[in-house]
Amino acid sequence: MIFKQFRYEPLNQASYLVGCPKAKEAFIVDPIEGLGTDFYVLEAADLGLAIVGVFETHVHADYVSCARDLAEMNGCPHYLHENAPTTYEYTPFKDGDVFTVGQVDMTCLFTPGHTPEHTSYLITDKSRSTEPWAVLTGDCLFVGDVGRPDLLVGDQALDVMDEGERAETQFATIRDILFTLPEHVEVYPNHYGGSLCGGVNMSGKNSSTIYFEHKYNLAMQKADAAEFAEFVQDTAKPLPDDYEKIKSYNLGLLKKDELQGAGV
Ligand SMILES: [Fe+2]
Repeated sequence: MIFKQFRYEPLNQASYLVGCPKAKEAFIVDPIEGLGTDFYVLEAADLGLAIVGVFETHVHADYVSCARDLAEMNGCPHYLHENAPTTYEYTPFKDGDVFTVGQVDMTCLFTPGHTPEHTSYLITDKSRSTEPWAVLTGDCLFVGDVGRPDLLVGDQALDVMDEGERAETQFATIRDILFTLPEHVEVYPNHYGGSLCGGVNMSGKNSSTIYFEHKYNLAMQKADAAEFAEFVQDTAKPLPDDYEKIKSYNLGLLKKDELQGAGV
């Protein structure tokens, strides 16, 4: 299989290419406007791969997504979990759905908390084993930290869960879903140290393992959801610039020229 992590340093953001050289096909996960649609198309083309699906772990609040544009450009689906409260059409999936390129399976693991639709993607390279080897954890689990539960737009229908409910859900999600994966599974997050999407303990390291995070992730050493929520709040960084406007664009409530007109 082919696996690439693309780092966008200004926002400490990571997007991914998951592909199969035999099938000559690839999925892109969490593409960012900062790199742009052409970047992903050229990266895939350099590897001889066609982009056949664009996935997002969730509707982002701290950066402008180019997933819709990239999917349209490639004539392929834009996938989000069926709970995503966007105003535009996307191709919905459910927990446990499996998407395949050649020998590579990507299994959707519903991991709500940071947002109500948040999903992680478990990756299996069947040319080597039927066991998964990696999980794209989005903004659920970072290296050394967890995603913040407080990036809300202030509209109950769109936010769905408030900050307290998000923190409580996230704690249970990481404990009961991600930390029950085999311990060798590598963790690839949507952000690394420096990002405002987590707290002060987020590592600059760009990947980890389930074993290491289970043992050393500070937020997840807390005894219960209440202690976890307090710790996340106490160690949070300042809110990302313009996150309400960015989230509104990514939800489809603002058009791109309105976003640019607002100076974002
Ligand atoms: Fe996020």
